[in-house]
Amino acid sequence: MALDADRIRMDFPILESTMHGKRLVYLDNAATTQKPRQVIEKISDYYKTYNANIHRGMYEISIRATEEYVRSKELTANFINADSYRNIVYTRNTTESLNVLAMSLGEEVNKGDTILISTMEHHSNIVPWQMLAKRKGAVLEYARVADDRSSMDMSDVESKLGKKPRIVSITMASNVLGTVNDAKRITKLAHDNGALVILDGAQSVPHMKTNVKDLDCDFLAFSSHKMLGPAGIGVLYGKDELLEEMNPVLGGGDMIRSVDFQSSTWNELPWKFEAGTSNIEGGIGFGAAIEYLGDIGMENVKRHEDELTGYALKRFSEIPGMKVHGLKADRINDRIGVVSFSIEGAHPHDIAQIFDSEGIAIRAGHHCAMPLVNSVLNEDSVARMSFYVYNNKEDVDKVVSAIDRVKTVLRIKSKN
Ligand code: ALA
Repeated sequence: MALDADRIRMDFPILESTMHGKRLVYLDNAATTQKPRQVIEKISDYYKTYNANIHRGMYEISIRATEEYVRSKELTANFINADSYRNIVYTRNTTESLNVLAMSLGEEVNKGDTILISTMEHHSNIVPWQMLAKRKGAVLEYARVADDRSSMDMSDVESKLGKKPRIVSITMASNVLGTVNDAKRITKLAHDNGALVILDGAQSVPHMKTNVKDLDCDFLAFSSHKMLGPAGIGVLYGKDELLEEMNPVLGGGDMIRSVDFQSSTWNELPWKFEAGTSNIEGGIGFGAAIEYLGDIGMENVKRHEDELTGYALKRFSEIPGMKVHGLKADRINDRIGVVSFSIEGAHPHDIAQIFDSEGIAIRAGHHCAMPLVNSVLNEDSVARMSFYVYNNKEDVDKVVSAIDRVKTVLRIKSKN
């Protein structure tokens, strides 16, 4: 059954509001998504009826909070087809998940070892590896984006895998180009060359079905707030045996089995990686978000976004002076609903500001992907709109009208 965006919109209180007196058109979903009543109420219910710490109380509301928190992990595990909640570590966000990996796996990285990422990465999948490379004297290599400035150059990936990197960490979908990489193939090739494989799923997991068994990745990182859940909750999925072998990077309460004066032993998975009081309400709210997306069906989410992206690319192709970055309409299947663009004669920040005055929220800038935006796209900054389940064609039409407004305000003359 197709997704009914108009019915879904009714679950999102914020979409009834206005910006500068205009209906809010929210198109910054790659940055963060809005929250449905079901998530808001789940968190509110926790505060109102069973607010207590988890794992520590032998009383009813603490036991309930613990059960709901674990249930959220079970829902997350099921959502990505992981074996168990043991494989689901909650962090603050994708960035923290990747940092935990760089720190913990980094213990095994030696001077001269190679770490392979790509020029398509978000800073969160660049900077932790730079820090590790500096700390250990390792070599950070980048697989390049192909000459189409849109897709991963797979021959470059293959040739750099030939150098036998210890770790390969690649985005599943670019937050600027929207390109969906062939993560399964990259994982297979990387494993064939003896590397551990980390996938950054921040922009893919919210928008399409994810199956960690089929991907066979060793680790996967993603964030709740980009998929209708609260901020402050991220996921670090890992294969059992790898998480078992790894050392935690934070020490403290809840992550130990026993502590004596000089040493400690670690708790079982996944708690070994969650020192201190967790973001309990965040985890519980995330569970509600996963249930909400599960009810819609991830195939329906992808289909809906493909349709909106196709519609936007068609409308944009009719606008003189407009340049869309990333794969074209004939490759809708290989991209998510992230559409970055430039308009000749208009700075992206001016575009975003004029859009704001029209009630439209988009992002402009380097999108935390400076190597990609500056060196691959040769831009200082681009404008970006990004879709989710509550967007509709009317939102795209509003963007097209706002582009007219940009041209009028900035006195841009169309060349044809
Ligand atoms: N990673 C987020 C974005 O692309 C913040 O906007």
